[in-house]
Amino acid sequence: MSPTFRVVWFLILSLSSTAAYTQTRAQQSPIPTQLPGQNAILMGVAWYPEQWPESRWEEDLRLMEAADLKVVRIAEFAWSRLEPSEGHYDLDWLERAINLAAKHHIVSVVGTPTATPPAWLTQKYPDTLRVEPDGQRVAHGNRAHASATSTRYRDFCRRIAEQMAIRFGHNPNVVGWQIDNEYGYAQMSYDDDTRKQFQDWLKAKYKTLDNLNSHWTTAYWSQTYDNWAEIPIPIGPHNPGLMLEWKRFTTATWTSYQQNQIDVIRKHAEPRQFITGNLMGFFDGFDHYPITESLTFASWDDYVGTGHVDPAENGLLHDLTRGFKRENFWVMETQPGAVNWSPLNNFLNRGEARAMAWQAIGHGADDVNYWQWRSALNGQEEIHGVLVGPDGTPVPFYDEAAQTAREFAKAESAFRGTQPISEVALLYSYDSHWALQFQKHTKNYDDNRLLTNYYRALRPISQSIDVVSAYAPLDDYKLVVAPSLNVLPKDLADHLLAYVRNGGHLVLGPRSGMKDEFNALLPQRQPGFLVDALGARVEQYYALEKDFPVAGAWGSGQASIWAEQLKSLSPGDEVLLKYGKSNGWLDDQPAVITRAYGKGHITYIGAELDDKLMAAAAQWMTQKSAVTPVLGPVPDGVEVSRRVGPGKQVFVFVNYAAENKRITLPHPMKLMLDGQQQGSIDLLPPYGVAIALDNR
Ligand code: GLA
Repeated sequence: MSPTFRVVWFLILSLSSTAAYTQTRAQQSPIPTQLPGQNAILMGVAWYPEQWPESRWEEDLRLMEAADLKVVRIAEFAWSRLEPSEGHYDLDWLERAINLAAKHHIVSVVGTPTATPPAWLTQKYPDTLRVEPDGQRVAHGNRAHASATSTRYRDFCRRIAEQMAIRFGHNPNVVGWQIDNEYGYAQMSYDDDTRKQFQDWLKAKYKTLDNLNSHWTTAYWSQTYDNWAEIPIPIGPHNPGLMLEWKRFTTATWTSYQQNQIDVIRKHAEPRQFITGNLMGFFDGFDHYPITESLTFASWDDYVGTGHVDPAENGLLHDLTRGFKRENFWVMETQPGAVNWSPLNNFLNRGEARAMAWQAIGHGADDVNYWQWRSALNGQEEIHGVLVGPDGTPVPFYDEAAQTAREFAKAESAFRGTQPISEVALLYSYDSHWALQFQKHTKNYDDNRLLTNYYRALRPISQSIDVVSAYAPLDDYKLVVAPSLNVLPKDLADHLLAYVRNGGHLVLGPRSGMKDEFNALLPQRQPGFLVDALGARVEQYYALEKDFPVAGAWGSGQASIWAEQLKSLSPGDEVLLKYGKSNGWLDDQPAVITRAYGKGHITYIGAELDDKLMAAAAQWMTQKSAVTPVLGPVPDGVEVSRRVGPGKQVFVFVNYAAENKRITLPHPMKLMLDGQQQGSIDLLPPYGVAIALDNR
């Protein structure tokens, strides 16, 4: 191909459906989740060589290599082996394990072992152990028993992380780092020092007590503080302002806890080594947006527990994780069949884990690791799922992992430099989530379920969704849906209004625009600073004890759990749904209002709608916003995902239905798993997967 022709050809490709990508993202640096010199998508395991005699390691690694596994995550619980006594480090064994893995073409992600401080440490320095809300210090013997606020504990963490970084920061086979393990799932420490730190943090933020007292309306119930030292750590229900700040302080604590280790690793490690943390889906102990800022990329641990994978719920959690940094991510852990910690630890069906692994890739994961390689002979997780049993030979699931890993290797070239690109965004806000959790008003209110309902309705239409912070840049989206922005201060309202003014379509769910950043009620009706743009407001909200009828442009159905009585204030408003006969107050009142504003539109949905109405609402909003599906029609039960790279797009199809499905492609594409150029996927069996590369 001549250079001129090459340029013309590239321009033609750029003008195709991937144009938005090539204009905005193609020039960016390589996706940091894809490791230079390695396959673009990888599969691995959590491996614990410290639990086994060294003479066994080679056999483990041989079995991993035979299964096409390319990554081990290693050492994240091995502190007692890495620092057997205070200040005496032994990293030689870990270096031998890492180097032996390299011999088998397996790269290592080193975990800092700070979720499991050794007994000598907690015995000699009991102040490093967490204090529970009831005042008891936790005993040694589980994990996550240390206090994240303890300066002494952080010193120990920094020292061990530094020793590891000095030793492995230049090891060519160490590709990256995981800080700690699933931090934050254990509670904060409720000791005096933590309380003092919280008070100092509040002082730095509010400057004066008058300011704090005013924002928290402490005149209510004589909560007024005359001295910073009077402010408690909230335990149980408390002042909503105080409760929200405690969550933010918790976020700041884990951010600095993490940074303490990042700083020392970065000091010694080569820049090519990534730093990540394994997060936990909807876990809400801290705000994930600030926490992930200083990570190279986000990772999460994807577990089903009891039952079977719900593709919408799991897809949403992948997209939530991708949205933390608006970059691809890793699935640092996933279940090899079964776990040991859920109410009923059933095994995933044959093929289900493979389907899940491919779903992860479709949604932007560049690595999937099974937890764990082999059953430890003792310890709390003796009977968790594995690839290799206590006898050291593969269990049946090993073959499914090996098949999937082989497929990853076969299809990886299609995924190089690709990531999902969406026209639709769902907005997420931890402040709003917490505010709603603190004051649910009905035990049935669950903003995460509502988010999932929106996702479930919208995803089959757009076939790609970003889940991002409410403060994320929005201009690239045709449709932005914010199901639960309860905390909606002026700066956020301005950000959203700018999006609408520029031509976007903003859809708000119930309970929007009620609170300011201090979790105080806004002195306006909902949706607060957006009332003028919407030309309507919420007159009154109602927690519902039973479903009420609603009907209008989207058909008829039921409102459940929550309903808001809207009032139109502007002739430009269009009422899309009204309540039927219900509690008298809501009878014949507007439930959904939309209005043109600037070059765009703003829509308010004041109730939780049943599935049929949600589906109709999703159809309406995507049509109104001219959202196009990333591929086109696929049969019910089949999920399609798309990743886009310079001059190409790659589709991942997973069949979750119980029957075979046939998929017609808009034009022939290369099916990566069987190597054929085809215009259709003729038979996708239950849990079947197909990968189609479109590089026309
Ligand atoms: C979590 C932890 C792992 C392991 C698994 C078991 O994700 O990070 O160490 O305990 O759960 O499912």
